[in-house]
Amino acid sequence: MTKRFLLLPASFFLALIFFSFTGAPDHYDYDTDLLTPQFHQGRPQALRDLLPDSSVAVFFASPVRTRSNDVEYDYHQDPNLFYLTGLCEPNAMLIVFKEKQQVDTMFTNELLFVQDRDPKEEAWTGKRLGADGAKQLLGIDKVLSSKDFSPSMIKWKKFHTVFFFPLTGEMNDHPDDPCDLSLLLAKFSNSTKRNSNDDTERLSEYMAMLREVKQPEELELMRKAILISGDGHTELMKALEPDMTEYQAQAILEFRFKMEGAEFPAYPSICGSGENSCILHYTSNRRPFQDGDLIVVDAGAEYHGYCADITRTLPVNGKFSAEQKQIYDIVYDAQQAGIQACRIGNEFRAPHNAAVEVIKKRLLALGIIQNEEDYIRYFFHGTSHYLGLDVHDAGLNGRLALGNVITVEPGIYIPAGSPCDPKWWNIGVRIEDDVLITSGDPEVLSGNIPKTTTDIEAMMAQKSYLNESGGPR
Ligand code: GLY
Ligand code: MN
Ligand code: MN
Repeated sequence: MTKRFLLLPASFFLALIFFSFTGAPDHYDYDTDLLTPQFHQGRPQALRDLLPDSSVAVFFASPVRTRSNDVEYDYHQDPNLFYLTGLCEPNAMLIVFKEKQQVDTMFTNELLFVQDRDPKEEAWTGKRLGADGAKQLLGIDKVLSSKDFSPSMIKWKKFHTVFFFPLTGEMNDHPDDPCDLSLLLAKFSNSTKRNSNDDTERLSEYMAMLREVKQPEELELMRKAILISGDGHTELMKALEPDMTEYQAQAILEFRFKMEGAEFPAYPSICGSGENSCILHYTSNRRPFQDGDLIVVDAGAEYHGYCADITRTLPVNGKFSAEQKQIYDIVYDAQQAGIQACRIGNEFRAPHNAAVEVIKKRLLALGIIQNEEDYIRYFFHGTSHYLGLDVHDAGLNGRLALGNVITVEPGIYIPAGSPCDPKWWNIGVRIEDDVLITSGDPEVLSGNIPKTTTDIEAMMAQKSYLNESGGPR
């Protein structure tokens, strides 16, 4: 966000310039559990092992996007660039060569371009790494200023394939900034002028092959994101009251996420109560609860880039009705069946197929459907996706393998007007956990968050410190 209207004394401004021009950006100053340079160095090497001979892969930083007028969205790095470098700044480009290339006087197999340090800009928006800082902190051999990227410094034509992801869509373009991403892109595409959809598809497969298998350092951060998210869900169970609103439920979750150091919610938190429990990705969160509602709470924290994705469904008054419990128990059993299918060598859809079998039979037994195949009216999404740097993470959807982390998230949604007894209407239930594929039993990374109706009701009977302090209301 640019704050050109702030009026500050000149001495304060000068002091800010001085202090902002020393040291590294905040992230690197203050967080002590970031992924290491060794991790990020290992990833381009792993990519090189997959790249075909005589090829090069080029990655761009995410663009800065405008929210409104001169206010920008929170900046979020492109997950591939982050994975390969650890860089969190915009206006950057990474080039990974299959074979070492000469750039200036140096032979290198990676080349990173980053935005320059700029005391005036840093006084407004915070410290930048610059080329020297990136070299030191990220451990990348060859880092240059983005403004110095010249297409002719690389002999593009000699490569058999130049892989990259074309960047599309609106971006916040700063034509006066010589490091701006739009300039990098223009120079790059003028010089290469080739990349087929097949090449993009292949690059996306290479990145998926790498990212779908989590390294131990990544798992550590994922466990942290999931732990924080679980604390948010558990706090909400304790604090929830029937006279609250959906946005207050969201506030409690996100309060805990932020208090425990998560940078962002991993995706817009879903707090759908009553009729909104039947809307899969409901995010407006404005509705006041009514006594007797269920609320689907699908929310996860992002910690140092890694996402959690967890859903619990709660009765806002602390007690499931008989009908709510019947539907809940079907989803619970479907999820248990899905989790049991999370084993090495199983097809990616195995957890979904297992969950569907349970849901079909049990909806039929309750008379909610008359034919097994009609289950799809009430459960019309997939059960699993990979989880990692993206909430819907890169992966090939092939057979499950050691180190995959996937969600298992069956649901049943019965909106008002559905062709069944109205006693079932407005019951929406989803249960979602994050599961690590191991060499033995699946490990439910989010397994410590209450999940049976009995455990949820017991947790909801407790009080939160947020209630005692006058609470969020
Ligand atoms: N939170 C989005 C999803 O579960 O896929
Ligand atoms: Mn999910
Ligand atoms: Mn989710």
